[in-house]
Amino acid sequence: MYGKIVGRGGVLHAGARVTRHFLNLADAGGDGIAAMISDALTRKAARRGADGTPWPKGRVDGDAPLAGHVLGMVFDKNSTRTRVSYDMAMRQLGGTTIVMEAGSMQLGRGESIADTARVLSRYVDAIMIRTDDHAKIEEMAAFASVPVINGLTDLSHPSQIMADLLTIIESGKALPGLKLAWLGDGNNVLHSIIEAAGLMHFEVRYAVPEGYDPDPRFADAARAAGATITLTRDAASAAAGADVIVTDTWVSMGQEHVHNKLAAMAPYQVNDALMAGAAGDAIFLHCLPAHRGEEASDSVLDGGQSRIWDEAENRLHAQKSILLWAFGRL
Ligand code: CP
Ligand code: NVA
Repeated sequence: MYGKIVGRGGVLHAGARVTRHFLNLADAGGDGIAAMISDALTRKAARRGADGTPWPKGRVDGDAPLAGHVLGMVFDKNSTRTRVSYDMAMRQLGGTTIVMEAGSMQLGRGESIADTARVLSRYVDAIMIRTDDHAKIEEMAAFASVPVINGLTDLSHPSQIMADLLTIIESGKALPGLKLAWLGDGNNVLHSIIEAAGLMHFEVRYAVPEGYDPDPRFADAARAAGATITLTRDAASAAAGADVIVTDTWVSMGQEHVHNKLAAMAPYQVNDALMAGAAGDAIFLHCLPAHRGEEASDSVLDGGQSRIWDEAENRLHAQKSILLWAFGRL
Protein backbone atom coordinates (compact mmCIF):
# COMPACT_ATOMS: atom_id res chain seq x y z
CA MET A 1 0.00 0.00 0.00
CA TYR A 2 2.78 2.44 0.88
CA GLY A 3 4.34 1.68 -2.47
CA LYS A 4 1.23 3.06 -4.18
CA ILE A 5 1.39 6.25 -2.15
CA VAL A 6 5.04 7.23 -2.38
CA GLY A 7 6.34 5.05 -5.21
CA ARG A 8 9.63 3.16 -5.41
CA GLY A 9 12.46 4.72 -3.49
CA GLY A 10 10.14 6.72 -1.25
CA VAL A 11 10.95 6.62 2.42
CA LEU A 12 7.76 4.70 3.19
CA HIS A 13 8.21 2.12 0.45
CA ALA A 14 7.22 -1.11 2.13
CA GLY A 15 9.58 -3.14 -0.01
CA ALA A 16 12.54 -1.49 1.70
CA ARG A 17 11.89 -3.39 4.93
CA VAL A 18 13.91 -6.53 5.57
CA THR A 19 12.92 -8.87 8.39
CA ARG A 20 15.75 -11.08 9.51
CA HIS A 21 15.53 -13.12 12.70
CA PHE A 22 18.69 -13.94 14.64
CA LEU A 23 17.71 -17.01 16.65
CA ASN A 24 20.91 -18.92 16.03
CA LEU A 25 24.20 -18.16 14.27
CA ALA A 26 23.13 -20.25 11.28
CA ASP A 27 20.48 -17.60 10.53
CA ALA A 28 23.31 -15.26 9.52
CA GLY A 29 25.60 -17.95 8.06
CA GLY A 30 29.36 -17.63 7.69
CA ASP A 31 29.15 -14.62 5.37
CA GLY A 32 26.76 -12.80 7.69
CA ILE A 33 29.00 -13.48 10.68
CA ALA A 34 32.06 -12.23 8.78
CA ALA A 35 30.18 -9.07 7.78
CA MET A 36 29.13 -8.47 11.38
CA ILE A 37 32.65 -8.92 12.76
CA SER A 38 34.07 -6.59 10.15
CA ASP A 39 31.42 -3.93 10.87
CA ALA A 40 31.97 -4.25 14.62
CA LEU A 41 35.73 -3.72 14.23
CA THR A 42 35.17 -0.64 12.05
CA ARG A 43 32.56 0.93 14.34
CA LYS A 44 34.60 0.19 17.46
CA ALA A 45 37.69 1.85 15.95
CA ALA A 46 35.64 4.86 14.79
CA ARG A 47 34.60 5.65 18.37
CA ARG A 48 37.93 7.27 19.19
CA GLY A 49 39.08 10.82 18.65
CA ALA A 50 42.15 11.67 16.56
CA ASP A 51 44.27 11.52 19.74
CA GLY A 52 42.87 8.06 20.63
CA THR A 53 40.51 9.32 23.33
CA PRO A 54 37.37 7.16 23.49
CA TRP A 55 34.10 8.95 22.77
CA PRO A 56 31.60 9.28 25.62
CA LYS A 57 29.59 6.06 25.55
CA GLY A 58 26.28 7.78 24.89
CA ARG A 59 27.48 9.60 21.78
CA VAL A 60 25.75 8.41 18.62
CA ASP A 61 27.87 6.93 15.79
CA GLY A 62 28.44 9.48 13.01
CA ASP A 63 26.03 7.82 10.56
CA ALA A 64 23.27 7.13 13.17
CA PRO A 65 22.09 4.19 11.05
CA LEU A 66 19.12 3.24 13.24
CA ALA A 67 17.84 6.75 13.97
CA GLY A 68 14.13 6.61 14.67
CA HIS A 69 14.16 2.85 15.33
CA VAL A 70 13.02 1.25 18.60
CA LEU A 71 14.19 -2.09 20.02
CA GLY A 72 11.82 -3.78 22.47
CA MET A 73 13.60 -6.09 24.93
CA VAL A 74 11.76 -8.83 26.83
CA PHE A 75 13.51 -10.47 29.78
CA ASP A 76 12.26 -13.73 31.24
CA LYS A 77 15.57 -14.22 33.09
CA ASN A 78 18.15 -12.02 34.82
CA SER A 79 20.76 -10.15 32.78
CA THR A 80 23.44 -7.50 33.17
CA ARG A 81 25.54 -7.64 29.99
CA THR A 82 22.82 -8.49 27.48
CA ARG A 83 20.45 -5.85 28.82
CA VAL A 84 22.95 -3.01 28.99
CA SER A 85 24.91 -3.86 25.84
CA TYR A 86 21.80 -4.06 23.63
CA ASP A 87 20.46 -0.87 25.19
CA MET A 88 23.71 1.00 24.60
CA ALA A 89 24.10 -0.58 21.15
CA MET A 90 20.74 0.81 20.10
CA ARG A 91 21.57 4.27 21.53
CA GLN A 92 24.94 4.39 19.75
CA LEU A 93 23.20 3.48 16.48
CA GLY A 94 20.83 6.40 16.99
CA GLY A 95 17.80 4.39 18.11
CA THR A 96 15.99 3.87 21.41
CA THR A 97 14.80 0.93 23.52
CA ILE A 98 11.97 -0.28 25.72
CA VAL A 99 12.92 -2.86 28.36
CA MET A 100 10.18 -5.21 29.57
CA GLU A 101 10.27 -7.82 32.32
CA ALA A 102 8.21 -10.76 31.07
CA GLY A 103 6.74 -11.28 34.53
CA SER A 104 5.22 -7.82 34.61
CA MET A 105 3.76 -8.08 31.10
CA GLN A 106 0.47 -9.82 30.28
CA LEU A 107 2.79 -12.56 29.00
CA GLY A 108 3.42 -13.27 32.68
CA ARG A 109 -0.26 -13.99 33.26
CA GLY A 110 -0.98 -16.10 30.25
CA GLU A 111 -1.21 -13.93 27.12
CA SER A 112 0.25 -16.08 24.36
CA ILE A 113 3.65 -15.49 22.83
CA ALA A 114 2.03 -15.37 19.40
CA ASP A 115 -0.32 -12.56 20.41
CA THR A 116 2.48 -10.72 22.24
CA ALA A 117 4.61 -10.96 19.08
CA ARG A 118 1.81 -9.57 16.91
CA VAL A 119 1.20 -6.65 19.28
CA LEU A 120 4.85 -5.74 19.93
CA SER A 121 5.43 -5.74 16.16
CA ARG A 122 2.94 -2.86 15.90
CA TYR A 123 4.92 -0.74 18.43
CA VAL A 124 8.61 -1.51 17.99
CA ASP A 125 10.94 -2.12 15.05
CA ALA A 126 12.74 -5.18 16.46
CA ILE A 127 12.39 -7.49 19.47
CA MET A 128 15.19 -9.00 21.55
CA ILE A 129 14.10 -11.70 23.97
CA ARG A 130 15.84 -13.70 26.71
CA THR A 131 13.80 -16.71 27.75
CA ASP A 132 14.04 -20.37 28.74
CA ASP A 133 12.53 -22.76 26.19
CA HIS A 134 13.91 -22.12 22.70
CA ALA A 135 10.49 -23.01 21.26
CA LYS A 136 9.23 -19.73 22.76
CA ILE A 137 11.60 -17.60 20.68
CA GLU A 138 10.75 -19.63 17.59
CA GLU A 139 7.07 -18.89 18.23
CA MET A 140 7.88 -15.21 18.74
CA ALA A 141 9.70 -15.14 15.39
CA ALA A 142 6.91 -17.02 13.62
CA PHE A 143 4.32 -14.42 14.63
CA ALA A 144 6.39 -11.21 14.69
CA SER A 145 6.55 -9.04 11.61
CA VAL A 146 9.78 -7.39 12.85
CA PRO A 147 13.21 -8.98 13.47
CA VAL A 148 13.49 -11.17 16.58
CA ILE A 149 16.90 -11.52 18.25
CA ASN A 150 17.99 -14.24 20.68
CA GLY A 151 19.38 -12.76 23.90
CA LEU A 152 19.83 -16.29 25.34
CA THR A 153 17.62 -19.33 25.58
CA ASP A 154 18.24 -22.66 27.30
CA LEU A 155 19.42 -23.90 23.90
CA SER A 156 21.75 -21.20 22.62
CA HIS A 157 23.39 -17.80 23.12
CA PRO A 158 24.41 -16.52 19.67
CA SER A 159 24.69 -12.87 20.78
CA GLN A 160 27.44 -13.91 23.20
CA ILE A 161 29.37 -15.88 20.63
CA MET A 162 29.47 -12.94 18.22
CA ALA A 163 31.33 -11.05 20.97
CA ASP A 164 33.60 -14.05 21.56
CA LEU A 165 34.51 -14.31 17.87
CA LEU A 166 35.25 -10.58 17.81
CA THR A 167 37.50 -10.94 20.86
CA ILE A 168 39.36 -13.86 19.29
CA ILE A 169 39.95 -11.88 16.08
CA GLU A 170 41.15 -8.86 18.09
CA SER A 171 43.67 -11.08 19.87
CA GLY A 172 45.32 -11.58 16.46
CA LYS A 173 44.12 -15.14 15.84
CA ALA A 174 42.36 -16.27 12.67
CA LEU A 175 39.17 -18.30 12.93
CA PRO A 176 39.85 -20.92 10.24
CA GLY A 177 42.05 -23.57 11.80
CA LEU A 178 41.74 -22.17 15.35
CA LYS A 179 41.72 -24.74 18.17
CA LEU A 180 39.21 -23.88 20.86
CA ALA A 181 38.81 -25.93 24.06
CA TRP A 182 35.69 -25.84 26.22
CA LEU A 183 35.74 -27.09 29.79
CA GLY A 184 32.74 -27.87 31.97
CA ASP A 185 29.01 -27.98 31.29
CA GLY A 186 27.52 -28.89 27.90
CA ASN A 187 25.26 -25.84 27.86
CA ASN A 188 23.69 -23.13 25.67
CA VAL A 189 26.96 -21.21 25.27
CA LEU A 190 28.80 -24.34 24.12
CA HIS A 191 26.02 -25.05 21.61
CA SER A 192 26.56 -21.67 19.95
CA ILE A 193 30.35 -22.14 19.98
CA ILE A 194 29.98 -25.48 18.19
CA GLU A 195 27.60 -23.87 15.72
CA ALA A 196 30.16 -21.11 15.08
CA ALA A 197 32.86 -23.73 14.49
CA GLY A 198 30.86 -25.25 11.65
CA LEU A 199 30.18 -21.87 10.07
CA MET A 200 33.65 -20.36 10.51
CA HIS A 201 35.73 -23.55 10.11
CA PHE A 202 37.51 -23.95 13.45
CA GLU A 203 38.06 -26.87 15.77
CA VAL A 204 36.30 -27.40 19.10
CA ARG A 205 37.41 -29.92 21.71
CA TYR A 206 35.06 -30.07 24.63
CA ALA A 207 35.77 -31.78 27.94
CA VAL A 208 32.48 -32.39 29.70
CA PRO A 209 31.68 -34.89 32.48
CA GLU A 210 29.42 -37.82 31.62
CA GLY A 211 25.75 -36.91 31.88
CA TYR A 212 26.31 -33.27 30.91
CA ASP A 213 26.98 -33.60 27.18
CA PRO A 214 25.72 -30.88 24.82
CA ASP A 215 22.85 -31.49 22.41
CA PRO A 216 24.44 -33.69 19.69
CA ARG A 217 22.58 -31.86 16.91
CA PHE A 218 25.07 -28.97 17.09
CA ALA A 219 28.13 -31.21 16.72
CA ASP A 220 26.44 -33.20 13.96
CA ALA A 221 25.75 -30.02 11.96
CA ALA A 222 29.25 -28.62 12.51
CA ARG A 223 30.88 -31.90 11.48
CA ALA A 224 28.67 -32.05 8.40
CA ALA A 225 30.05 -28.59 7.53
CA GLY A 226 33.59 -29.98 7.82
CA ALA A 227 34.60 -28.85 11.32
CA THR A 228 36.47 -31.09 13.74
CA ILE A 229 34.43 -31.42 16.93
CA THR A 230 35.78 -33.73 19.62
CA LEU A 231 34.33 -34.84 22.95
CA THR A 232 36.62 -35.96 25.73
CA ARG A 233 36.19 -36.64 29.44
CA ASP A 234 39.74 -35.47 30.11
CA ALA A 235 40.21 -31.74 30.74
CA ALA A 236 43.98 -31.70 30.10
CA SER A 237 43.72 -33.42 26.73
CA ALA A 238 41.06 -30.92 25.55
CA ALA A 239 43.24 -28.00 26.61
CA ALA A 240 46.50 -29.36 25.18
CA GLY A 241 47.85 -26.88 22.61
CA ALA A 242 44.55 -24.97 22.39
CA ASP A 243 44.54 -21.36 21.16
CA VAL A 244 41.46 -20.41 23.17
CA ILE A 245 40.20 -21.85 26.46
CA VAL A 246 36.55 -21.19 27.29
CA THR A 247 34.33 -22.07 30.21
CA ASP A 248 31.04 -20.96 31.74
CA THR A 249 29.08 -21.39 34.94
CA TRP A 250 28.45 -24.99 35.99
CA VAL A 251 24.84 -24.15 36.86
CA SER A 252 22.92 -22.15 34.27
CA MET A 253 19.89 -19.98 34.98
CA GLY A 254 16.83 -22.10 35.65
CA GLN A 255 18.87 -25.20 36.57
CA GLU A 256 18.85 -26.67 40.04
CA HIS A 257 22.01 -26.09 42.07
CA VAL A 258 22.72 -29.76 42.81
CA HIS A 259 25.76 -30.95 44.72
CA ASN A 260 26.28 -33.96 42.41
CA LYS A 261 26.74 -31.69 39.43
CA LEU A 262 29.31 -29.49 41.15
CA ALA A 263 31.26 -32.61 42.19
CA ALA A 264 31.17 -33.95 38.61
CA MET A 265 32.41 -30.60 37.26
CA ALA A 266 35.27 -30.14 39.75
CA PRO A 267 37.95 -31.84 37.57
CA TYR A 268 37.09 -29.43 34.73
CA GLN A 269 38.02 -26.22 36.54
CA VAL A 270 40.15 -23.86 34.45
CA ASN A 271 43.17 -23.12 36.65
CA ASP A 272 46.85 -22.37 36.15
CA ALA A 273 47.75 -26.03 35.68
CA LEU A 274 45.19 -26.40 32.91
CA MET A 275 46.23 -23.15 31.19
CA ALA A 276 49.86 -24.33 31.25
CA GLY A 277 48.94 -27.10 28.80
CA ALA A 278 47.40 -24.70 26.25
CA ALA A 279 49.36 -22.86 23.55
CA GLY A 280 51.77 -20.30 24.98
CA ASP A 281 49.75 -17.43 23.54
CA ALA A 282 46.35 -18.93 24.39
CA ILE A 283 43.62 -16.61 25.59
CA PHE A 284 40.94 -17.35 28.18
CA LEU A 285 37.27 -16.41 27.66
CA HIS A 286 34.22 -16.60 29.93
CA CYS A 287 30.84 -15.07 29.03
CA LEU A 288 30.28 -14.04 32.68
CA PRO A 289 28.90 -13.95 35.30
CA ALA A 290 31.77 -16.00 36.79
CA HIS A 291 31.57 -18.17 39.86
CA ARG A 292 35.09 -17.55 41.05
CA GLY A 293 36.77 -20.66 42.42
CA GLU A 294 34.28 -22.97 40.70
CA GLU A 295 34.58 -23.13 36.89
CA ALA A 296 37.68 -20.90 36.88
CA SER A 297 40.25 -19.83 39.45
CA ASP A 298 40.80 -16.17 40.31
CA SER A 299 44.34 -16.53 38.97
CA VAL A 300 43.00 -17.39 35.50
CA LEU A 301 40.08 -14.93 35.49
CA ASP A 302 42.40 -12.09 36.52
CA GLY A 303 45.55 -13.42 34.83
CA GLY A 304 47.50 -12.21 31.82
CA GLN A 305 45.82 -14.57 29.36
CA SER A 306 42.30 -13.56 30.37
CA ARG A 307 40.34 -11.41 27.88
CA ILE A 308 37.08 -11.47 29.82
CA TRP A 309 36.67 -7.68 30.15
CA ASP A 310 37.34 -7.10 26.44
CA GLU A 311 34.88 -9.93 25.78
CA ALA A 312 32.26 -8.22 27.93
CA GLU A 313 32.88 -4.87 26.21
CA ASN A 314 32.63 -6.57 22.85
CA ARG A 315 29.04 -7.54 23.63
CA LEU A 316 28.24 -3.89 22.88
CA HIS A 317 30.16 -3.75 19.60
CA ALA A 318 28.90 -7.16 18.46
CA GLN A 319 25.31 -6.36 19.36
CA LYS A 320 25.40 -3.24 17.19
CA SER A 321 26.37 -5.37 14.20
CA ILE A 322 23.70 -7.97 14.98
CA LEU A 323 21.11 -5.17 15.03
CA LEU A 324 22.36 -3.77 11.72
CA TRP A 325 22.33 -7.25 10.18
CA ALA A 326 18.79 -7.87 11.46
CA PHE A 327 17.64 -4.59 9.93
CA GLY A 328 19.16 -5.59 6.60
CA ARG A 329 21.88 -2.94 6.79
CA LEU A 330 24.79 -5.39 6.44
N1 CP B 1 27.00 -13.15 29.31
C1 CP B 1 25.73 -12.72 29.49
O1 CP B 1 24.82 -12.99 28.69
O2 CP B 1 25.58 -11.97 30.60
P1 CP B 1 24.19 -11.48 31.24
O3 CP B 1 23.49 -12.71 31.78
O4 CP B 1 24.60 -10.54 32.34
O5 CP B 1 23.36 -10.83 30.18
N1 NVA C 1 24.97 -20.68 30.58
C1 NVA C 1 24.62 -19.48 31.31
C2 NVA C 1 25.01 -18.27 30.54
C3 NVA C 1 24.75 -16.97 31.25
C4 NVA C 1 25.08 -15.77 30.42
C5 NVA C 1 23.15 -19.50 31.62
O1 NVA C 1 22.34 -19.88 30.76
O2 NVA C 1 22.79 -19.14 32.73
